[in-house]
Amino acid sequence: MLTAAVTLDPAFRIAPVNRRTFGSFVEHLGRAVYTGIYEPDHPSADKDGFRTDVLDLTREMGVTMVRYPGGNFVSGYRWEDGVGPCENRPVRRDLAWHSTETNEVGLDEFMRWARKAEVEPMMAVNLGTRGVAEALDVLEYANHPGGTRLSDMRAANGSVEPHDIKLWCLGNEMDGPWQLGHMSAREYGRLAVQTARAMRMTEPGLELVACGSSGSQMPTFGEWEATVLEEAYDEVDFISLHAYYEEYDGDLRSFLASAVDMDHFIDSVVATADYVRAKRGATKRIMLSFDEWNVWYLSRFQAAGPPTDWPVAPRLLEDHYHLADAVVVGNMLISLLRHSDRVTAACQAQLVNVIAPIMAEPGGPAWRQTTFHPFAETARTAKGEVLRVEAQSPTYETGRHGEVPVVDAVATYDAPAGQAAVFVVNRSTEETVQFDVDTRALGAQRVTACRTLSDPDPYVRNTAAEPDRVAPRSRDDAELADGRLRLSLPPVSWTVIELATT
Ligand code: AHR
Repeated sequence: MLTAAVTLDPAFRIAPVNRRTFGSFVEHLGRAVYTGIYEPDHPSADKDGFRTDVLDLTREMGVTMVRYPGGNFVSGYRWEDGVGPCENRPVRRDLAWHSTETNEVGLDEFMRWARKAEVEPMMAVNLGTRGVAEALDVLEYANHPGGTRLSDMRAANGSVEPHDIKLWCLGNEMDGPWQLGHMSAREYGRLAVQTARAMRMTEPGLELVACGSSGSQMPTFGEWEATVLEEAYDEVDFISLHAYYEEYDGDLRSFLASAVDMDHFIDSVVATADYVRAKRGATKRIMLSFDEWNVWYLSRFQAAGPPTDWPVAPRLLEDHYHLADAVVVGNMLISLLRHSDRVTAACQAQLVNVIAPIMAEPGGPAWRQTTFHPFAETARTAKGEVLRVEAQSPTYETGRHGEVPVVDAVATYDAPAGQAAVFVVNRSTEETVQFDVDTRALGAQRVTACRTLSDPDPYVRNTAAEPDRVAPRSRDDAELADGRLRLSLPPVSWTVIELATT
């Protein structure tokens, strides 16, 4: 059996747990909106047409923030198509996903849903096929109290109170050649500055996110961030990061270490942002918005290609996740928490049906994919301050990420509540790990809960017929004696240990 050890010490504080770490994403893509959050004919639909089974699972998952309306979709979107009486809304082609958009759901409906789901909205403006004027228009419609054409239109449409949306993305993935309106970093940086300045002239308190790279594999990665921030440093609060991982060619060992790449990605964007800061002699620090992250079997989507017949709400990007995917998702949350000093917003992409932890059958049940569980558990348990833990761990060799630790962990500590939690993964495909936690500096008194997500088959999935096949299992074999905690971590597993310190 392998062994690994960590030490918990309140002095190893990184930053407070940021509630915006537990964001998600609803794009007009596939069945995320239609037959996802919204299905007026569904037996569970409320008076506004929202599926209450999906709303219940969204709240259960602990989602705190939702990005909307895209994604690639936003770069061709006219927000005004989605407001006003439904019968007057145009049906249009969505070029990003080769689908037909009915516009039954738009800004006001999304905000109604967000209030019911108890999530903060993160809104994206279209800087692909539109610009400053339209960004100002949607901001006026959404946030101005009243007495102007667009704010009065909102009130007439039934949303009398302003939506008060604070967090805005300035476009989406503008570095990607697939993006409508794709442009160079210099061009985008200048457009982002103009848009940000104009938006802040109306509301100085907005929080603005500039597009970073669509992934660390992009040819312009690094240079893109440096150029965009050279232009927009003073005007924006965040630079975005997007990353998706999948298992290639049956290489499970590399796939399980995907969070190692996420760590490097975050560290290099921090380094670039701080380099620009130093060059400018700025005092402000740019924060990171990891506003798209997940496991996504993108190569399968690319092989199938987009639809050719402009369907309405097609089954697109409906990945069915297995246990190993969930362990990778749990590990990515460990990575995000570890970077809580700089990653102060994050969105798992996406929420329902589209590469999602929640699946919802049209007219049928909504259920939890394997990836639902580490998100829900982490969102519920991570409280107080994030503590750095350096795992003393054996390593293994991977084809994609070199030599990586078998065990990865992070901890949180809520001193006033007398509670701490350790989140840990065992990435080994074969070996159980004996895990030792030195809790003496923390003064842990007892283990209050311990749950593990594991299975002898790393490829086991939940389905609509068997929705709880994979779920965290409560354990009572974690032993705490003389401040030292011991438990075993099965291969390909994610575990949370909750401790009482008073
Ligand atoms: O989340 C799916 C897509 O991935 C988004 O629309 C886009 O921003 C990214 O490439």
